[in-house]
Amino acid sequence: ALVSAEQMLKDARAGQYAVGAFNTNNLEWTKAILSGAQAANSPVMIQTSMGAAKYMGGYKVCVDLVKNLIDSMGITVPVALHLDHGDYADALECIEVGYTSVMFDGSHLPFEENLEKAKDVVAKAHAKGVSVECEVGSIGGEEDGIIGTGELASPEECKTIADLGIDFLAAGIGNIHGSYPANWTGLSFDTLSAIADITDGIPLVLHGGSGIPVEQVKKAISLGVSKINVNTECQEVFAAATRKYIEEGKDLEGKGFDPRKLLAPGTTAVTELVEQRIEWFGSNGKA
Ligand code: G3H
Ligand code: ZN
Repeated sequence: ALVSAEQMLKDARAGQYAVGAFNTNNLEWTKAILSGAQAANSPVMIQTSMGAAKYMGGYKVCVDLVKNLIDSMGITVPVALHLDHGDYADALECIEVGYTSVMFDGSHLPFEENLEKAKDVVAKAHAKGVSVECEVGSIGGEEDGIIGTGELASPEECKTIADLGIDFLAAGIGNIHGSYPANWTGLSFDTLSAIADITDGIPLVLHGGSGIPVEQVKKAISLGVSKINVNTECQEVFAAATRKYIEEGKDLEGKGFDPRKLLAPGTTAVTELVEQRIEWFGSNGKA
């Protein structure tokens, strides 16, 4: 069923596991994420960046797609459709058209303005049973044109924004979108612990989930991370499987150029990655 992420992340926080939030781009990825979660009997979040939703034909198309696939694929695990790194206007639009969860990312705004807009998003979202994620500090790297400085979040600012009644909180703790550079020094567990201590058990979100070593992922979960975003790794495995298919000349054999055949290896690769990450995050069997 399509549900808000509020309860699934509360359960994750209480049960010391994390729910994977996987970015989708099209029909194939959406099916891949749903079937991976169903196979693992896990709750899941499907998220669209603003750019991906535009690519797919708009937010309403995404809502209808996910809803209809849940029905036609016989998906029984809880699914939340979430706006990833939304601006204020798009967060409000998603609340209107049927997203069950939104991220309002005001991390690049002056803190007061971030706070003010977050408050308004929370009021409008909660009136419709939609869960809300906000961000403090900045996730490094670039995602879909959104560039972050990688500044560590201030625990006090985290507390102030958590107290607005948001449902889960993304905080910069040395995490980076895209792949991690060779000289990356790892997650700041001191920052994460300080944030967890001060924010009264609110589920925390780890962005930039691609390329973090599994031990660090598990440690972060033990300190309060309940949602982990994975995007780049899905893109990498999709591209690699598609490239292999073409380089092996499979598209030249029989009807291998049929788009359904051409996209199949990449789609399977995304499903497998989703299942594997769900196992890392410990949400398998928690549906
Ligand atoms: O918001 C999405 C994520 O934070 C994804 O990060 O592309 O590094 O996996 P990633
Ligand atoms: Zn992110």
